Amino acid sequence: MNQVAPVNDFQDTVSADRAHVWHHLTQHKIHEKVDPRIMVEGKGMRVWDANGREHLDGVSGGVWTVNVGYGRADIGQAIADQVTKMNFFAQNNGSVPGALFAKKLIERMPGMSRVYYVNSGSEANEKAFKMVRQIAQKRYGGKKHKILYRERDYHGSTISTISAGGQFERNAHYGPYTPGFVEVPHCLEYRAQWDVEDYGLRAADAIEEVILREGPDTVGALCLETVTAGGGVITPPEGYWPRVQEICRKYDILLHLDEVVCGIGRTGKWFGYQHYGIQPDLVTMAKGVASGYAAIACLVTTEAVFDMFKDDASDPMSFFRDISTYGGCTAGPAAALENMRIIEEEGLLENTLAMGERLMGNLRELQERHAAIGDVRGLGLFCGAELVADRETKEPAPEAKVQAVIAECMAQGVIIGATARAIPGFNNTLCLAPALIATADDIDAITAAIDVALTRVFG
Ligand SMILES: Cc1ncc(COP(=O)(O)O)c(C=O)c1O
Repeated sequence: MNQVAPVNDFQDTVSADRAHVWHHLTQHKIHEKVDPRIMVEGKGMRVWDANGREHLDGVSGGVWTVNVGYGRADIGQAIADQVTKMNFFAQNNGSVPGALFAKKLIERMPGMSRVYYVNSGSEANEKAFKMVRQIAQKRYGGKKHKILYRERDYHGSTISTISAGGQFERNAHYGPYTPGFVEVPHCLEYRAQWDVEDYGLRAADAIEEVILREGPDTVGALCLETVTAGGGVITPPEGYWPRVQEICRKYDILLHLDEVVCGIGRTGKWFGYQHYGIQPDLVTMAKGVASGYAAIACLVTTEAVFDMFKDDASDPMSFFRDISTYGGCTAGPAAALENMRIIEEEGLLENTLAMGERLMGNLRELQERHAAIGDVRGLGLFCGAELVADRETKEPAPEAKVQAVIAECMAQGVIIGATARAIPGFNNTLCLAPALIATADDIDAITAAIDVALTRVFG
C-alpha cells in the first residue's frame, strides 16, 4: 500500500474538518466518535486518504464525475494558464475558452447549436425549466407550462429540481414544491408495471397517457435522464426512446434530456442519447464536462429553441433574462477543452465501450454465482447490479445489507456506490462508474472485491 504522507500530517486537517465542515448527505452524529474520511491525493484510478490508505475508485469521485481520472497535470496547467491571463468576466460577454469549447462541443452534438454556461447540474436543469416557462408565456399565453418528469429520475438539489425529481426520499421534508411538475411512470422492466411483450413501447405510451390526462396544450416539456443514474442505473427498454421522441413531436412538447451523468463519454459515446438515434431540444450536462477539475455545467439547445428568444428585438422582455455569475469563470471551459482533448487522444470512448462490456460480463458472471444479484444493467462504464433478498419474488435486499456490501468493498480498498435514501424500499442497486481510463485489471479488481463482499454479507 502506498503511503502519500505520514499519518499524523493531516491530524490538524481532520480536526478542523470535524469541528467545522458540514458534509453533504451525512448524518454527523457518527463523527463525534469517528473521524471523517478526507481524500488527499489522486492519480489515475486511485485515491489516497488522510491515513495514507490507497483506494481503487469505482465511482469516479463517488458521484460519477472524474471521467479522465485523477492527477491530470495538463488540465491543471490549462486552468492555471487561463486564470492567470483572464479568470472571469460576466458571461454577457464572451471568453476565449468559452467560445472554443462551445464550438467543439457542438461539433460532437449534431443537431444542437447553442451552449449556455452555468455551474452545476441542478442549475443547468433550472435554466432549462426557465426557458420552457418563458416559451410558454411568450407563445402559449402561459398555458403550455407544465414539465413532465419521471418516477426514479433525479435532476438536482434545488427546490424546483426536486419538484421535478422522482425520488421520494430525496424530496421528503422540502415541500411545498414548485407547481407545474407532473410525474410519469419509470421504465425499469425488471420492476415491470405492465405485463406486455413490447415493454419499451408500453412504458413510453404511459407518458402519452399522462399528457392526454393533463391536456397536451398544458405540457411544455418532458425532462428525463437518458439512463437513470441514482434512481437505480435504469437503461431504457428496447423501443422506448424512439417512441418517446415521437410522442413529444406529436404534441409539440420539448424533449429535455438530463445528461449530467451520461454526458461526455460515460456511456461510450459523447452523449447517452446518441445510442438511440433521437434528437433532443435541450440537453443538460455537468459532472464529466471537466471531470471535476473545475465547476462547469452546460445547457445546450437547438437553434430553434434559441431563436424563440430573439424573435422580437423590439420587446425588452423577449430574450432569456437569466444570469449565473460563475458561468463567466474561464477555468471551467479551459478545463473542459483539455478534458475533451484527453478523451479523444487517448481513445477513451472506445475504451469505455470495451471496458463497459467487460464490467457487464463480470457482473453477469457474479450474478450466476450470487443469488443476491437479481438484475444487472448498464451502458458503457455506467453499470448497476440490483440486489435482492429473494430472486424469485424479487424482494429488494434491505438497504443495510446493500450498505454492508459497500463497506466490505471499502475494507478491501475498493470504492463502489449504491442507490441511497432515494426510493423507499428500493435503495438496493450497486452503482459502478469507474473512470473512462479503467484497464481490464482495474475492472477485474472492482468485481473481485464485490464478489468477496457479497459472500461476506449474503453468504
Ligand atoms: C442526473 C443528474 N442530474 C442532475 C444532477 C445535479 O447535479 P449537481 O449536483 O451538479 O447540481 C445530478 C447529480 O447527481 C444527477 O445525477
